[in-house]
Amino acid sequence: MTVPSRGADPVDEAITAHIAIPGALLPILHDVQDALGYIPGDAISRIAQALNLSRAEVYGVVTYYHYFRAEPPASHIVQVCRAEACQAMGSDALVSHIRARLGCSGSDSDPSNKFCVEPVYCLGLCGAAPALTLDGRPYARVTPDSFDNLVSELEVGS
Ligand code: FES
Repeated sequence: MTVPSRGADPVDEAITAHIAIPGALLPILHDVQDALGYIPGDAISRIAQALNLSRAEVYGVVTYYHYFRAEPPASHIVQVCRAEACQAMGSDALVSHIRARLGCSGSDSDPSNKFCVEPVYCLGLCGAAPALTLDGRPYARVTPDSFDNLVSELEVGS
């Protein structure tokens, strides 16, 4: 009888892939987040040990860069453009509406971690502002009503 092999551990793989290069911490963190969607506390400890750093040093890097997540990501990510063209076309009011609609007031994620609202700075849709992405798909000329329709479609589909 063959015992199925356990998949390789993404944290071990990331450490092994980069430990020999100078400045290994950032590539390791990128690989771990690519594999797991965030940097778990256990991974922070293991990376710190492997690189002979303190846990606080690694955690400090994770929290310094907005790109990295120390918590599991929400099921759906809304990135709203906050750059000039979109601001001129009402993105601030749109963000307020989105936060209220999703229950994200006061933090980036709603209490159930179903939705997360993040800023992004230009999606290349400046001529059709305001723009956002929902789970990576771009939408232009977004209004509160059209956003509500997108969320309703998600809720029907889930
Ligand atoms: S400024 Fe919003 S897409 Fe360019």
